[in-house]
Amino acid sequence: MLLAMDGLLKQAQLERRAIGSFNVYNGETIRGAVQAAGKTKLPMIISFGAGYLRNMDLEEVVYLVHRLTAGEGQFVLHLDHCRDLEVIRHAIEAGFTSVMYDGSALAYEENVAHTKEVCAMAKAAGVSVEAELGSLALGAHSAEGELGDALAYTDSQRAASFAEETGVTALAVSIGTVHGLYQGTPKIRVDLLQQIRSLVDTPLVLHGGSGTPKEQLKACIQNGITKINVNTEISETVMAKTLEALEDDPHLHFSRLSLLQAEWTAEVIEGYQQFFWDQKTL
Ligand code: 13P
Repeated sequence: MLLAMDGLLKQAQLERRAIGSFNVYNGETIRGAVQAAGKTKLPMIISFGAGYLRNMDLEEVVYLVHRLTAGEGQFVLHLDHCRDLEVIRHAIEAGFTSVMYDGSALAYEENVAHTKEVCAMAKAAGVSVEAELGSLALGAHSAEGELGDALAYTDSQRAASFAEETGVTALAVSIGTVHGLYQGTPKIRVDLLQQIRSLVDTPLVLHGGSGTPKEQLKACIQNGITKINVNTEISETVMAKTLEALEDDPHLHFSRLSLLQAEWTAEVIEGYQQFFWDQKTL
């Protein structure tokens, strides 16, 4: 069953849990995500990045996700990192149940104005909206490479006024994670997260889940993060296993590889999904 994100995140916030949001790019990753949720029996956010529109169009994604999740579990179909209001409109019309408007590279006022526009169109359709304030640095092998290389921590006062002015469902904050794999040891600003949480009641989102040490993820969940995004690690794991499989059998049939890739995707996602859920502190 496809749902908007609001209810799931509010419930997660009450229980001090986080819901996993996993990036998909093709049939294999969508199948893998749905397989993982079938095993864990936990709610899942299936996240399709606007940067992958060359791989699949929005209607294809909606069709496949609907088809594979019909009558099963609790799923949100989310458009990740989109800066184009027309693409957002299209995703809402196509059947996405949640969208992210990423105005993090813009001046505060412009980010607010565009986010409000997105909220007006999305909320009329019962669709959730995530926005971002502050921007993440790029780690190694990031799929979000085109988003720029800034690390601007989120300002807590601004986060409070942004949430109030826009009424977004969820707010992505920058507290030290990076998109991609870390070049060194990550230092997550849990102190900043606590400050933001004390001023903002809107569910908070952590981007850049890949490679973040489990202890730090746990601290983030316990201090108010309710959605965590994972992308790079899915791709890195599946590609490494693909190389191994081809070394073992250079004549591996493409159809077999496709099934294996869905299974490998499911393994990575299942581990993260269960871990996020198990951190409940209340
Ligand atoms: P990673 O690629 O670092 O896991 O980040 C994913 C993400 O934040 C997607 O929006």
